[in-house]
Amino acid sequence: MTDWKIRRAPEINAEITVPGDKSISHRSIMLAAMANGTATITGFLPSEDCLSTMKAFQQLGVEIQRVDNTTVVVHGRRGKFLPPTGDIDCGNSGTTMRLMCGILSAQPFRSRLVGDASLSKRPMGRVIEPLTQMGARITAEGEKGRAPLVIEGGELKGIAYQSPVASAQVKSAILLAGLFARGSTSVTEPEQSRDHTERMLAWHVVRPRKNGLTVSVLGGQQLESRDFEVPGDISSAAFWLVAAAAMPGSHLIVKNVGLNPTRTGILAVLIRMGAHVNEIVDATEGEPRGSVEIRGVELKATTIAGREIPNVIDELPILAVAAALATGRTIIKDAKELRVKETDRIAAIAKNLRAFGVDVFETEDGMEIEGGGEYHGADVESFGDHRIAMACAVLGMFSEGQTTVRDTECVNTSYPGFYEQLQRFLKPGKSNE
Ligand code: S3P
Repeated sequence: MTDWKIRRAPEINAEITVPGDKSISHRSIMLAAMANGTATITGFLPSEDCLSTMKAFQQLGVEIQRVDNTTVVVHGRRGKFLPPTGDIDCGNSGTTMRLMCGILSAQPFRSRLVGDASLSKRPMGRVIEPLTQMGARITAEGEKGRAPLVIEGGELKGIAYQSPVASAQVKSAILLAGLFARGSTSVTEPEQSRDHTERMLAWHVVRPRKNGLTVSVLGGQQLESRDFEVPGDISSAAFWLVAAAAMPGSHLIVKNVGLNPTRTGILAVLIRMGAHVNEIVDATEGEPRGSVEIRGVELKATTIAGREIPNVIDELPILAVAAALATGRTIIKDAKELRVKETDRIAAIAKNLRAFGVDVFETEDGMEIEGGGEYHGADVESFGDHRIAMACAVLGMFSEGQTTVRDTECVNTSYPGFYEQLQRFLKPGKSNE
């Protein structure tokens, strides 16, 4: 078990980059594996979650070479995979398990998907139900539709699915299955979720049709292999963006970070809270990317709710920290999805913030945070959830005395190198550049 020790940090004055985007890295392997030739992926995130996806495809007969830590070459199999050599271990990764369900439902063999203790508690009925409507045969061995999942793949038919949740994982599982199905498959979501799958399909020359909140694909299309460069992960940058935003006098530039508008809600929230944010888009082809520049101020409270929630869903733990550091009462609502993430993030955030002395009122679908207090270092656990660990580390940068975050290995699922970056920020003066 690795624990982190953190103390109050000086002003941040730095220009940094962050590792590759997790959602995009998963999809870059999946679509390259389904495509018709060889593609080189650069900027790949070599985190445990994305390596679970890579290993899964290697088990399905896909040749993948790791040229270096962040460069991989994938030899596509034209959508025709080999039966897996054993169980496919998705580790902690919901994206791996749910998207693989879509792809494997259409393969003419049996596969079994397993996950770690956290993933085995997460709801899979949300993908099993629509895929079953398409003709898939999926058995959940766990209670209440949970993993392990056994998939007996076969022929699928297109459906028009009205999703009850704004979930990119659900949408993507259905669209990926739809590529193998007879006819057209469409998904309508209640709010816009991240659209990486749609963009990456278009990059591989399969353009989904979009009409409001409905996306559809026509079955039987062949993806074209194309090299792809993964931008930095704005959800990883978020920890440092909040740290700099809440520290008057700080100035941070994050370069080569993904700026897909379905992911940049954090910038809008920080602007509402009073931070000085400058977003510079360098390129828009494939996935938009560029730089974010931020200057710290005394933050003020805001409300985060409604259709903004899917856009900031992974940033809510660190935005709760921003709220603790802002003057006034911040309200986060319509976010009950947080209860089914890597842990129940509403309960975990409320418990940990209180340990620092923050006044938090937990609600069924969010929380209210009375910010602007003086906080003391705390001894908190990660609950095995990477974003809880990193968010608490940032609050430690603003607290008197020492903070300990326990059981931090989980951070390797999304942000290897987080603690080294944190160590640089803990150094005074220009040395944290
Ligand atoms: C993801 C979608 C989101 C997000 C997760 C990654 C993806 O989950 O929270 O970290 O890569 O599609 P949901 O689809 O469950 O909202």
